[in-house]
Amino acid sequence: MLAYTRDDVPDYQMAAFCMAVFFRGLSDAETFALTDAMVRSGETIDLRSQLGRTVVDKHSTGGVGDKTSVAVGPIVAACGVPMGKMSGRGLGHTGGTLDKLEAIPGFRIELSHEEFVRIVRDVGCAIIGQTGDLVPADKKLYALRDVTATVDQLSLIASSIMSKKIAGGADAIVLDVKVGDGAFMKTLDDARALARTMIEIGRRAGREVVCELTDMDQPLGRAVGNALEVREAVATVRGEGPPDFTELVLASCAHLLALSDLGIDRAEGRRRAEAAVADGSAHAAYERWIRAQGGDPSEDALEQAPVVVEVPAPASGWVARAGAIAIGRAALHLGAGRRTKEDDVDHAVGIVCLAKRGDRVEQGSPLAEVHARSEESARVAVDEVLAAYELADEEPPTRAIILETLTAAG
Ligand code: URA
Repeated sequence: MLAYTRDDVPDYQMAAFCMAVFFRGLSDAETFALTDAMVRSGETIDLRSQLGRTVVDKHSTGGVGDKTSVAVGPIVAACGVPMGKMSGRGLGHTGGTLDKLEAIPGFRIELSHEEFVRIVRDVGCAIIGQTGDLVPADKKLYALRDVTATVDQLSLIASSIMSKKIAGGADAIVLDVKVGDGAFMKTLDDARALARTMIEIGRRAGREVVCELTDMDQPLGRAVGNALEVREAVATVRGEGPPDFTELVLASCAHLLALSDLGIDRAEGRRRAEAAVADGSAHAAYERWIRAQGGDPSEDALEQAPVVVEVPAPASGWVARAGAIAIGRAALHLGAGRRTKEDDVDHAVGIVCLAKRGDRVEQGSPLAEVHARSEESARVAVDEVLAAYELADEEPPTRAIILETLTAAG
């Protein structure tokens, strides 16, 4: 990996390696060896010794409407546990946390190493872009996988994600593995296999890993689109978020607090996270964090799209489906995401899913809201959103947001 990073191993040889792994897979020991080699390809950060604390981190494999880190960071910080996180940008129909944070006017995602550590120490939360020196092998390998159709391989995905978490200095990691049509992992079995592989890498690297398998058949929460998602994350930090997103945020906080050095269990972690939301300390932590990174935390500062139109239900019935990938693509076409790495993101646009699976709607009542730059792009998005919804005569079975939780113990 080091030789590949230094250009001593040519792309054609590494492409052959990726293709071999794609078809043959890797054992647990080989997957760990690959992860370890990727970690060693660049600098590593030892936040633990710089802060004198156990450092926790969370990571999601990516989905539509996933703004969990923006809400979890300040809640955990308000409970006295530092979270210093490096995030990525989105590509395709899943937006990245950095794009969402950049919807906040003034927010700086590039901080020096010293500033990052100082903000995590003084404020309890900082989220920045991954520096070029951290796991450079992954950056190069991911680009190669992308053009050789070898992204979608369990050991390659697991080593890519875990190398960045390990190099970033986290002692304990909560991983959110999304399952469903809007996720990398389409089935629960595939998600379980990825989760087990990442837990095993963590065990071999001496890091504690908890994996939540969560539903990505429909968007998480209601908002899809950068400024809209920040608004929803802030509402959730104030206790006014949608039920599925609130549940995932509080459950993730409970895991993180239980894995921290507070010496509490998950039930106490949940109680403290709920209390921080209820007494306003989580919102105060959000404002401190955003200001510390140069941003304006007031909601009025977030850009609003000039055109907002409702998507009316074509008939009365129960929402049987609000397809994640179709809604994600509609948001992408509005400009909320990027098709190529060079594309700019329009922070104001997106979709708010007012009705979700299991909701009863009457004909003409709003299924969703489209936030667009122009009347024309809004019209296209309305049709796309309508096609993403499926209405049924009967109430569909309920499905919890958290499908399973896996730990090293089983
Ligand atoms: N996310 C990553 O960071 N790497 C992968 O390979 C897939 C998802």
